Amino acid sequence: MARCAGLKAIRMHRYGGPEVLQLEEVDTPRCGPNDVRISVHATSVNPVDFKIREGMQRAVVWISFPFIPGMDVSGVISEVGVKVTAWKVGDEVFASPSHLRQGTYAEEVVVRASEVAHKPKNLSHVEAASLPLVAMTAWYSLVKSAKLKSGQRVLIQAGAGGVGTAAIQLAKALGASEVFATCSTRNVELVRSLGATPIDYTKDDYRVVARGVDVVLDSLGGEHLVAALKLVKRFGHVSCITPSFPTFARKYGVAGGFFVFLLHAAWLTVSSLIRKQVTLAFVTRFAVGTVLHQLGQLAEQGKLKPVVDRTYPLSEVAEAHRYAETGRARGKIVLTVR
Ligand SMILES: NC(=O)c1ccc[n+]([C@@H]2O[C@H](COP(=O)([O-])OP(=O)(O)OC[C@H]3O[C@@H](n4cnc5c(N)ncnc54)[C@H](OP(=O)(O)O)[C@@H]3O)[C@@H](O)[C@H]2O)c1
Repeated sequence: MARCAGLKAIRMHRYGGPEVLQLEEVDTPRCGPNDVRISVHATSVNPVDFKIREGMQRAVVWISFPFIPGMDVSGVISEVGVKVTAWKVGDEVFASPSHLRQGTYAEEVVVRASEVAHKPKNLSHVEAASLPLVAMTAWYSLVKSAKLKSGQRVLIQAGAGGVGTAAIQLAKALGASEVFATCSTRNVELVRSLGATPIDYTKDDYRVVARGVDVVLDSLGGEHLVAALKLVKRFGHVSCITPSFPTFARKYGVAGGFFVFLLHAAWLTVSSLIRKQVTLAFVTRFAVGTVLHQLGQLAEQGKLKPVVDRTYPLSEVAEAHRYAETGRARGKIVLTVR
């Protein structure tokens, strides 16, 4: 570990509420031969950050304390590892790096060179930091898992959220003929402006309106996942990104909750396959720079526009988490670092 005097990051020393997030002076790991060091301009808050903070992801995300959260970054490369040839000091990049290392709520972060992509030229660092994790999740759900084809019909749950706003635009860019997206009344115009047919869940039943779609991106889990498997057409596909660990963990404990989740997931997968030949996949994003590069190109073409709800300085991260935990963010919450 190399000492970098005066460098700040948000660290947590235990699981708990937003108050466990402390702005502290830190050491940063040395830049390895295949790594790049990024001088962070902006990072973002994702729901997984507060799920990890609470300890509800312990069955699948192993962390050691003190831990720096954060899974998005936009910034400038300040050092390259000796084996790195694709990048140079001064390159503007963005990334959603692997959660297996320390996170991005920091003034500097070291990530694998293979995880970064050029920051889209038309985006600010704030806008760029809002995209990687949610856009890559949408990509792995719709492209890699569902293999969405031009002309297909899609339902995106929580269309006004971080993943939803990216997924709507990605589905349209992939040529989907109709993209339904659920939201509350106040977000109907936002969702429509992104290219979706809004389904206001306070007035209409998406189970009826979106019946027979080819693909569902489910980000709500629980009863909504069961509903997705029922409403999707025969031979259709459901990508679920919210496998309900926190819900099961609260009820049965972390290990018990994971076991119950596995049983539940297996039952849903097999029964929907037998009943309607519907495939179900629990999807996560992988930190792959080449995927992010393609998404960056869509952003430069104006086909993937960031939706930033609020920005907070890094020092006000606890407040940002409190807002994220309301579940009412419209698009993304970004933390500005410099
Ligand atoms: N597997 C993965 O790799 C992965 C990656 C990213 C996210 N996720 C998970 O996916 C979920 C969504 O993430 P996110 O970043 O999009 O969250 P988010 O930005 O916090 O989502 C907030 C949005 O959810 C909407 N919403 C809340 N309840 C709703 C409902 N019943 N029906 C429709 N919309 C509803 C809200 O819109 P209204 O105010 O209009 O209701 C709000 O705009 C989270 O659980 C997250 O942990 C998983």
